[in-house]
Amino acid sequence: MTKRVLTGVTTTGIPHLGNYVGAIRPAIRASQEENTESFLFLADYHGLIKCRDPEMIHQSTQAVAATWLACGLDPERTTFYRQSDIPEIMELNWILTCITAKGLMNRAHAYKAAVQANEEEGNDPDAAVDMGLFCYPMLMSADILMFRAHDVPVGRDQIQHVEMARDIAGRFNHLYRDLFVLPEAKIEENVQTLVGLDGRKMSKSYGNTIPLVETEKKLQKAVNKIVTNLKEPGEPKGTDESPLFEIYKAFATEEETAAFAVSLAEGLAWGEAKKILGAKLNEELADKRERYHELTANPAKIEEILLAGAKKARAEARELLTQVRDAVGIRVLK
Ligand code: ADP
Ligand code: TRP
Repeated sequence: MTKRVLTGVTTTGIPHLGNYVGAIRPAIRASQEENTESFLFLADYHGLIKCRDPEMIHQSTQAVAATWLACGLDPERTTFYRQSDIPEIMELNWILTCITAKGLMNRAHAYKAAVQANEEEGNDPDAAVDMGLFCYPMLMSADILMFRAHDVPVGRDQIQHVEMARDIAGRFNHLYRDLFVLPEAKIEENVQTLVGLDGRKMSKSYGNTIPLVETEKKLQKAVNKIVTNLKEPGEPKGTDESPLFEIYKAFATEEETAAFAVSLAEGLAWGEAKKILGAKLNEELADKRERYHELTANPAKIEEILLAGAKKARAEARELLTQVRDAVGIRVLK
Protein backbone atom coordinates (compact mmCIF):
# COMPACT_ATOMS: atom_id res chain seq x y z
CA MET A 1 0.00 0.00 0.00
CA THR A 2 1.17 3.53 -0.72
CA LYS A 3 1.55 5.70 2.33
CA ARG A 4 0.54 9.34 2.17
CA VAL A 5 2.57 11.95 4.01
CA LEU A 6 1.38 15.54 4.35
CA THR A 7 2.57 18.63 6.15
CA GLY A 8 2.42 22.42 5.89
CA VAL A 9 4.25 25.48 7.15
CA THR A 10 2.45 28.79 7.79
CA THR A 11 3.61 31.83 5.84
CA THR A 12 4.14 34.29 8.65
CA GLY A 13 7.88 34.78 8.53
CA ILE A 14 11.21 33.34 7.60
CA PRO A 15 11.62 29.60 8.34
CA HIS A 16 13.81 28.73 11.29
CA LEU A 17 15.64 25.76 12.78
CA GLY A 18 12.47 24.58 14.58
CA ASN A 19 10.44 24.41 11.37
CA TYR A 20 13.30 22.56 9.73
CA VAL A 21 13.86 19.84 12.32
CA GLY A 22 10.18 19.56 13.33
CA ALA A 23 8.54 19.42 9.92
CA ILE A 24 10.60 20.19 6.81
CA ARG A 25 13.45 17.71 7.24
CA PRO A 26 11.33 14.72 8.31
CA ALA A 27 8.76 15.41 5.58
CA ILE A 28 11.41 15.58 2.88
CA ARG A 29 13.06 12.42 4.15
CA ALA A 30 9.70 10.65 4.14
CA SER A 31 9.01 11.87 0.61
CA GLN A 32 12.15 10.12 -0.57
CA GLU A 33 11.05 6.72 0.72
CA GLU A 34 9.60 4.00 -1.48
CA ASN A 35 5.82 3.62 -1.70
CA THR A 36 5.23 7.08 -0.33
CA GLU A 37 3.27 9.95 -1.83
CA SER A 38 3.81 13.37 -0.27
CA PHE A 39 1.73 16.49 -0.09
CA LEU A 40 3.80 19.41 1.13
CA PHE A 41 2.39 22.90 1.22
CA LEU A 42 2.46 26.53 2.25
CA ALA A 43 -0.30 27.23 4.76
CA ASP A 44 -0.98 30.81 3.66
CA TYR A 45 -4.60 30.95 4.83
CA HIS A 46 -3.33 29.83 8.23
CA GLY A 47 -0.85 32.69 7.98
CA LEU A 48 -3.69 35.23 8.03
CA ILE A 49 -4.60 34.09 11.54
CA LYS A 50 -1.39 35.32 13.03
CA CYS A 51 -0.32 38.06 10.65
CA ARG A 52 -2.08 41.17 9.37
CA ASP A 53 0.89 42.45 7.40
CA PRO A 54 0.23 41.75 3.69
CA GLU A 55 3.88 42.30 2.72
CA MET A 56 5.01 39.80 5.33
CA ILE A 57 2.53 37.18 4.11
CA HIS A 58 3.74 37.73 0.57
CA GLN A 59 7.47 37.66 1.36
CA SER A 60 7.06 34.73 3.67
CA THR A 61 5.25 32.71 1.00
CA GLN A 62 8.30 33.07 -1.20
CA ALA A 63 10.69 32.33 1.66
CA VAL A 64 8.84 29.20 2.80
CA ALA A 65 8.52 27.90 -0.78
CA ALA A 66 12.21 28.51 -1.48
CA THR A 67 13.10 26.81 1.81
CA TRP A 68 11.17 23.65 0.97
CA LEU A 69 12.85 23.49 -2.45
CA ALA A 70 16.31 24.36 -1.12
CA CYS A 71 16.00 21.60 1.48
CA GLY A 72 15.57 19.02 -1.25
CA LEU A 73 11.86 18.83 -2.01
CA ASP A 74 11.51 17.37 -5.50
CA PRO A 75 8.39 18.87 -7.13
CA GLU A 76 8.18 15.94 -9.55
CA ARG A 77 8.06 13.36 -6.77
CA THR A 78 5.83 15.29 -4.40
CA THR A 79 2.69 17.41 -4.71
CA PHE A 80 3.91 20.84 -3.62
CA TYR A 81 1.35 23.63 -3.46
CA ARG A 82 -0.03 26.73 -1.81
CA GLN A 83 -3.12 26.15 0.36
CA SER A 84 -4.95 29.17 -1.12
CA ASP A 85 -4.64 27.71 -4.62
CA ILE A 86 -6.89 24.80 -3.59
CA PRO A 87 -10.40 26.23 -3.02
CA GLU A 88 -11.70 22.72 -2.36
CA ILE A 89 -9.94 22.86 1.03
CA MET A 90 -12.14 25.79 2.04
CA GLU A 91 -15.27 23.95 0.94
CA LEU A 92 -14.30 20.91 2.93
CA ASN A 93 -13.47 23.20 5.85
CA TRP A 94 -17.12 24.29 6.00
CA ILE A 95 -18.53 20.79 5.73
CA LEU A 96 -16.26 19.67 8.58
CA THR A 97 -17.18 22.77 10.60
CA CYS A 98 -20.81 21.65 10.49
CA ILE A 99 -20.06 18.32 12.15
CA THR A 100 -17.51 19.46 14.73
CA ALA A 101 -18.44 20.17 18.32
CA LYS A 102 -17.61 23.65 19.55
CA GLY A 103 -16.39 21.95 22.72
CA LEU A 104 -13.61 20.26 20.75
CA MET A 105 -12.32 23.63 19.54
CA ASN A 106 -12.58 25.03 23.09
CA ARG A 107 -9.84 22.59 24.03
CA ALA A 108 -7.35 23.67 21.34
CA HIS A 109 -4.18 24.85 23.05
CA ALA A 110 -3.66 28.11 21.11
CA TYR A 111 -7.20 29.27 21.91
CA LYS A 112 -6.95 28.13 25.52
CA ALA A 113 -3.67 29.98 25.98
CA ALA A 114 -5.22 33.19 24.62
CA VAL A 115 -8.20 32.87 26.99
CA GLN A 116 -5.95 32.15 29.94
CA ALA A 117 -3.79 35.18 29.20
CA ASN A 118 -6.92 37.35 29.06
CA GLU A 119 -8.20 35.97 32.35
CA GLU A 120 -4.87 36.55 34.05
CA GLU A 121 -4.99 40.18 32.98
CA GLY A 122 -8.61 40.60 34.09
CA ASN A 123 -9.85 41.07 30.50
CA ASP A 124 -12.88 39.57 28.81
CA PRO A 125 -11.87 35.93 28.17
CA ASP A 126 -12.36 36.31 24.41
CA ALA A 127 -10.70 39.72 24.06
CA ALA A 128 -8.79 39.90 20.76
CA VAL A 129 -9.61 36.26 19.97
CA ASP A 130 -10.87 36.08 16.41
CA MET A 131 -12.69 33.23 14.74
CA GLY A 132 -9.60 32.37 12.71
CA LEU A 133 -7.71 31.49 15.88
CA PHE A 134 -10.69 29.59 17.27
CA CYS A 135 -11.28 27.57 14.08
CA TYR A 136 -7.61 27.08 13.24
CA PRO A 137 -7.66 23.32 13.94
CA MET A 138 -10.70 23.00 11.64
CA LEU A 139 -8.84 24.39 8.65
CA MET A 140 -5.87 22.23 9.52
CA SER A 141 -8.16 19.19 9.57
CA ALA A 142 -9.46 20.10 6.11
CA ASP A 143 -5.82 20.36 4.89
CA ILE A 144 -5.04 16.90 6.16
CA LEU A 145 -8.28 15.06 5.36
CA MET A 146 -8.57 16.53 1.84
CA PHE A 147 -5.59 14.43 0.71
CA ARG A 148 -6.27 11.34 2.80
CA ALA A 149 -2.93 11.65 4.58
CA HIS A 150 -1.81 8.77 6.82
CA ASP A 151 1.26 10.43 8.36
CA VAL A 152 1.63 14.06 9.31
CA PRO A 153 5.22 14.97 10.28
CA VAL A 154 4.96 17.92 12.68
CA GLY A 155 6.65 19.39 15.71
CA ARG A 156 5.32 18.42 19.12
CA ASP A 157 3.23 21.61 19.38
CA GLN A 158 0.98 20.35 16.57
CA ILE A 159 0.16 16.86 17.89
CA GLN A 160 -3.12 17.99 19.39
CA HIS A 161 -4.29 19.45 16.07
CA VAL A 162 -3.59 16.21 14.21
CA GLU A 163 -5.50 14.31 16.88
CA MET A 164 -8.42 16.67 16.35
CA ALA A 165 -8.29 15.99 12.61
CA ARG A 166 -8.44 12.30 13.43
CA ASP A 167 -11.50 12.80 15.67
CA ILE A 168 -13.25 14.83 13.01
CA ALA A 169 -12.49 12.25 10.31
CA GLY A 170 -13.90 9.51 12.54
CA ARG A 171 -17.01 11.53 13.20
CA PHE A 172 -17.65 12.15 9.50
CA ASN A 173 -17.07 8.49 8.65
CA HIS A 174 -19.50 7.50 11.38
CA LEU A 175 -22.21 10.04 10.46
CA TYR A 176 -22.05 9.61 6.69
CA ARG A 177 -19.72 7.28 4.86
CA ASP A 178 -16.21 5.96 5.31
CA LEU A 179 -14.45 8.56 3.16
CA PHE A 180 -11.64 9.87 5.31
CA VAL A 181 -8.36 8.31 6.37
CA LEU A 182 -7.59 8.68 10.08
CA PRO A 183 -4.28 10.59 10.17
CA GLU A 184 -1.47 10.23 12.68
CA ALA A 185 1.11 12.79 13.82
CA LYS A 186 4.71 11.68 13.17
CA ILE A 187 7.19 13.07 15.63
CA GLU A 188 10.98 12.93 15.37
CA GLU A 189 12.20 11.05 18.39
CA ASN A 190 15.42 12.99 18.94
CA VAL A 191 13.81 16.39 18.38
CA GLN A 192 12.17 18.43 21.13
CA THR A 193 10.31 21.66 20.48
CA LEU A 194 13.29 23.96 20.04
CA VAL A 195 13.48 26.93 22.36
CA GLY A 196 14.09 30.38 20.87
CA LEU A 197 16.47 33.17 21.83
CA ASP A 198 14.07 34.56 24.45
CA GLY A 199 13.39 31.25 26.21
CA ARG A 200 9.94 30.74 24.61
CA LYS A 201 9.18 28.23 21.83
CA MET A 202 11.16 29.21 18.76
CA SER A 203 8.49 30.65 16.46
CA LYS A 204 8.19 32.87 13.43
CA SER A 205 5.57 34.82 15.36
CA TYR A 206 7.86 35.70 18.27
CA GLY A 207 10.91 37.16 16.50
CA ASN A 208 13.10 34.83 18.58
CA THR A 209 14.38 32.48 15.92
CA ILE A 210 17.61 31.19 14.52
CA PRO A 211 16.87 31.47 10.79
CA LEU A 212 17.69 28.59 8.52
CA VAL A 213 19.27 30.39 5.62
CA GLU A 214 21.46 33.11 7.10
CA THR A 215 25.09 33.68 6.14
CA GLU A 216 27.57 31.70 8.22
CA LYS A 217 28.47 34.84 10.17
CA LYS A 218 24.88 35.76 10.99
CA LEU A 219 24.09 32.16 11.88
CA GLN A 220 26.96 32.17 14.40
CA LYS A 221 25.81 35.55 15.72
CA ALA A 222 22.32 34.16 16.37
CA VAL A 223 23.80 31.05 18.02
CA ASN A 224 25.87 33.32 20.28
CA LYS A 225 22.62 34.84 21.57
CA ILE A 226 21.27 31.52 22.88
CA VAL A 227 20.63 31.91 26.60
CA THR A 228 23.10 30.20 28.93
CA ASN A 229 23.79 30.59 32.66
CA LEU A 230 26.79 32.23 34.30
CA LYS A 231 28.88 29.10 34.78
CA GLU A 232 32.55 29.66 34.06
CA PRO A 233 34.75 27.59 31.74
CA GLY A 234 35.86 24.50 33.66
CA GLU A 235 32.66 24.29 35.72
CA PRO A 236 30.55 21.18 34.96
CA LYS A 237 27.41 21.94 32.95
CA GLY A 238 24.25 19.89 32.51
CA THR A 239 22.48 19.27 29.23
CA ASP A 240 19.35 20.97 30.59
CA GLU A 241 21.00 24.27 31.44
CA SER A 242 20.64 25.88 28.02
CA PRO A 243 18.47 25.35 24.91
CA LEU A 244 21.78 24.95 23.08
CA PHE A 245 22.02 21.23 23.81
CA GLU A 246 18.61 20.34 22.33
CA ILE A 247 19.46 22.26 19.17
CA TYR A 248 22.77 20.43 18.86
CA LYS A 249 21.01 17.12 19.42
CA ALA A 250 18.56 17.82 16.60
CA PHE A 251 21.47 18.12 14.17
CA ALA A 252 23.99 15.59 15.45
CA THR A 253 24.31 11.81 15.51
CA GLU A 254 23.70 9.95 18.75
CA GLU A 255 27.45 9.51 19.31
CA GLU A 256 28.16 13.19 18.70
CA THR A 257 25.38 14.15 21.10
CA ALA A 258 26.76 11.84 23.80
CA ALA A 259 30.26 13.26 23.33
CA PHE A 260 28.91 16.81 23.55
CA ALA A 261 27.16 16.00 26.84
CA VAL A 262 30.44 14.62 28.22
CA SER A 263 32.33 17.77 27.17
CA LEU A 264 29.76 19.95 28.91
CA ALA A 265 29.98 17.83 32.06
CA GLU A 266 33.76 18.23 31.91
CA GLY A 267 33.45 21.99 31.87
CA LEU A 268 33.36 23.04 28.21
CA ALA A 269 32.98 26.84 28.09
CA TRP A 270 29.63 28.09 26.78
CA GLY A 271 31.49 30.17 24.19
CA GLU A 272 33.21 27.04 22.87
CA ALA A 273 29.94 25.11 22.93
CA LYS A 274 28.38 27.80 20.77
CA LYS A 275 31.22 27.55 18.27
CA ILE A 276 30.74 23.79 18.07
CA LEU A 277 27.00 24.23 17.53
CA GLY A 278 27.55 26.92 14.87
CA ALA A 279 29.89 24.62 12.95
CA LYS A 280 27.46 21.72 13.21
CA LEU A 281 24.59 23.80 11.85
CA ASN A 282 26.72 25.15 9.07
CA GLU A 283 27.71 21.65 8.02
CA GLU A 284 24.08 20.75 7.33
CA LEU A 285 22.84 24.10 6.10
CA ALA A 286 25.59 25.58 3.88
CA ASP A 287 24.48 23.98 0.61
CA LYS A 288 20.81 24.68 1.34
CA ARG A 289 21.59 28.35 1.90
CA GLU A 290 23.21 28.57 -1.52
CA ARG A 291 20.29 26.90 -3.27
CA TYR A 292 17.88 29.16 -1.39
CA HIS A 293 19.54 32.28 -2.78
CA GLU A 294 19.49 30.90 -6.32
CA LEU A 295 15.78 30.18 -5.98
CA THR A 296 14.76 33.52 -4.49
CA ALA A 297 16.54 35.28 -7.36
CA ASN A 298 13.84 33.82 -9.64
CA PRO A 299 10.40 34.05 -7.97
CA ALA A 300 8.58 33.46 -11.28
CA LYS A 301 10.09 29.98 -11.37
CA ILE A 302 8.83 29.29 -7.83
CA GLU A 303 5.37 30.49 -8.86
CA GLU A 304 5.42 28.14 -11.84
CA ILE A 305 6.35 25.19 -9.64
CA LEU A 306 3.54 26.03 -7.18
CA LEU A 307 0.91 26.34 -9.91
CA ALA A 308 1.92 22.99 -11.39
CA GLY A 309 1.61 21.49 -7.89
CA ALA A 310 -1.81 23.08 -7.38
CA LYS A 311 -3.02 21.50 -10.61
CA LYS A 312 -2.04 18.04 -9.38
CA ALA A 313 -3.50 18.69 -5.93
CA ARG A 314 -6.80 20.07 -7.22
CA ALA A 315 -7.47 17.06 -9.44
CA GLU A 316 -7.15 14.91 -6.35
CA ALA A 317 -9.14 17.27 -4.13
CA ARG A 318 -12.05 17.57 -6.55
CA GLU A 319 -12.47 13.84 -6.68
CA LEU A 320 -12.78 13.45 -2.92
CA LEU A 321 -14.89 16.57 -2.53
CA THR A 322 -17.40 15.24 -5.05
CA GLN A 323 -17.80 12.15 -2.90
CA VAL A 324 -18.05 14.19 0.28
CA ARG A 325 -20.72 16.46 -1.17
CA ASP A 326 -22.65 13.45 -2.34
CA ALA A 327 -22.37 11.83 1.08
CA VAL A 328 -23.86 14.87 2.84
CA GLY A 329 -26.65 15.24 0.25
CA ILE A 330 -25.38 18.06 -1.93
CA ARG A 331 -26.17 16.48 -5.28
CA VAL A 332 -27.28 17.29 -8.81
CA LEU A 333 -31.09 17.38 -9.17
CA LYS A 334 -32.23 14.90 -11.75
P1 ADP B 1 5.95 28.96 13.68
O1 ADP B 1 5.52 28.78 15.11
O2 ADP B 1 7.36 29.26 13.58
O3 ADP B 1 5.08 29.95 12.92
P2 ADP B 1 4.62 26.93 12.13
O4 ADP B 1 3.41 27.10 12.97
O5 ADP B 1 4.58 27.41 10.73
O6 ADP B 1 5.81 27.58 12.95
O7 ADP B 1 5.06 25.42 12.16
C1 ADP B 1 5.47 24.67 11.03
C2 ADP B 1 6.01 23.35 11.52
O8 ADP B 1 7.22 23.55 12.26
C3 ADP B 1 5.06 22.62 12.47
O9 ADP B 1 5.11 21.23 12.21
C4 ADP B 1 5.62 22.91 13.82
O10 ADP B 1 5.32 21.91 14.78
C5 ADP B 1 7.11 22.96 13.54
N1 ADP B 1 7.76 23.82 14.52
C6 ADP B 1 7.51 25.14 14.71
N2 ADP B 1 8.27 25.64 15.69
C7 ADP B 1 9.01 24.60 16.15
C8 ADP B 1 9.99 24.46 17.18
N3 ADP B 1 10.35 25.51 17.92
N4 ADP B 1 10.54 23.24 17.37
C9 ADP B 1 10.18 22.18 16.62
N5 ADP B 1 9.26 22.24 15.64
C10 ADP B 1 8.68 23.42 15.41
N1 TRP C 1 -0.84 24.65 11.75
C1 TRP C 1 0.48 24.24 11.39
C2 TRP C 1 1.45 25.06 12.19
O1 TRP C 1 1.17 26.18 12.52
C3 TRP C 1 0.72 24.42 9.92
C4 TRP C 1 -0.23 23.60 9.18
C5 TRP C 1 -1.37 24.02 8.57
C6 TRP C 1 -0.17 22.19 9.04
N2 TRP C 1 -2.02 22.97 8.03
C7 TRP C 1 -1.34 21.80 8.30
C8 TRP C 1 0.71 21.19 9.46
C9 TRP C 1 -1.62 20.50 7.99
C10 TRP C 1 0.42 19.86 9.15
C11 TRP C 1 -0.72 19.51 8.42
O2 TRP C 1 2.48 24.57 12.47
